[in-house]
Amino acid sequence: MLSGIRNLVNSENGLLDRSIFVDKDVYQQELEQVFGRCWLFVGHESQVKNNNDFTANYMGEDPVLLTRDSKGKLHAFLNMCRHRGNRICRADFGNAPSFMCTYHGWTFATDGKLVGVPGYKEAYFEELDRTQWGLVEARVETYKGLVFATWDASAPKLIDYLGDYAWYMDVLLDRRAGGTEVAGGVHRWVMNMNWKFGADNFAGDGYHVSITHGSTRFMGDPSRAARSAPLPNSDPNRVHVTFSYGHGWNSGFAAKKNDPTLAEIAPDLNSQNAVAREYFQDTYHEAEQRLGPVRAKMTSSTLPGQVFPTFTWFNAARVWHPRGPEKTELWSYSIVDKDAPEAVKKHKRIQLVESFGPAGNLEEDDGNNFVQCTTASKSLIARKYPINQNMGNGHEGKSELAPGLISPHIGEANQRALYARWAEIMSASIWDQIKIEPRTWVKG
Ligand code: FES
Ligand code: FE
Repeated sequence: MLSGIRNLVNSENGLLDRSIFVDKDVYQQELEQVFGRCWLFVGHESQVKNNNDFTANYMGEDPVLLTRDSKGKLHAFLNMCRHRGNRICRADFGNAPSFMCTYHGWTFATDGKLVGVPGYKEAYFEELDRTQWGLVEARVETYKGLVFATWDASAPKLIDYLGDYAWYMDVLLDRRAGGTEVAGGVHRWVMNMNWKFGADNFAGDGYHVSITHGSTRFMGDPSRAARSAPLPNSDPNRVHVTFSYGHGWNSGFAAKKNDPTLAEIAPDLNSQNAVAREYFQDTYHEAEQRLGPVRAKMTSSTLPGQVFPTFTWFNAARVWHPRGPEKTELWSYSIVDKDAPEAVKKHKRIQLVESFGPAGNLEEDDGNNFVQCTTASKSLIARKYPINQNMGNGHEGKSELAPGLISPHIGEANQRALYARWAEIMSASIWDQIKIEPRTWVKG
């Protein structure tokens, strides 16, 4: 293990050593310490609705299969035959009672058991203990439709890992009684960037919006234009929420109780699209009953956030799969209310593709910045100078309305928390050395 990781991250002063974005040893340690033991998003329950459904995904660089076995139980397996290591499934998703390896034919059921071995009698003389050679399985837990997995048996429960951040996740996941589902398929694309620049941005970089996405002011969509208005730090409704667990959230939130302007910053409730506007207004009462008045107005379009390390949600879900220190594969999902009319689901899906799809206007804006920041980190000259993320340091506080540490919308508290958590997890040898606090907020 590398020593001195903590010297590369100075969260007190908001300084970062650029080597953490390109150094191969740091990256190897990340695969082991971060991706080898944190809870990672592996799919949505709606992607494996029926028994024997499966969908492929990644945990770090490792290909995995999320399955629902023939009895309805969820599993996440390393997509690797235990014989020589061939992938047991090449399909992205489907329904099958078993997976036969295309090399020598070992066959595994959707519960991971090795159920078929060619030549079991003639070649193995029935001496192979098939119970010992099932698929390698990760621990799986769900939160309101989202399925997460970890390779570490000693990791805290998912609900404790999420902590009070789950209170905010409910805005997307628990607005209606029917819960959510993935609409359409999964967009994937590769970028020459370190995954942390993506996590850092979606953890709550309100600072970049008016500059990077400035052109949206001229595109005729007032909700986007409002979000890209120049430095709205004076707007008390837009804040950062910081969590010591490295999760971050940045969006509309009334810092003042009963603030009448709150609805104005809820784009779904005020969408130019009549189908979406009517749907969110019609279901507002149900959302308020379920979530309370503060969260009911936090409609999903307003919620960029990040669950450490790589699960981002913003009117959707996306994962920053690492593919080396300088490469990241993005997977993007449109997540919608299951009970919404088809026209609303379609609107949300198209809205996602237009904004944060592989050719989306906002995605194009962001992506080039991430690539440039990664490229700069390779320079030996540039590395003599640290990254600055010290904005608003010391201006965080508590709110009576919501959990987490609240700070102004334009600030870098979330980034400081993200890298502090990263350094903590990179430096700890076991989960017992990593801070987990009890959840305190359970309802609106
Ligand atoms: Fe799968 Fe040989 S590698 S059966
Ligand atoms: Fe952006």
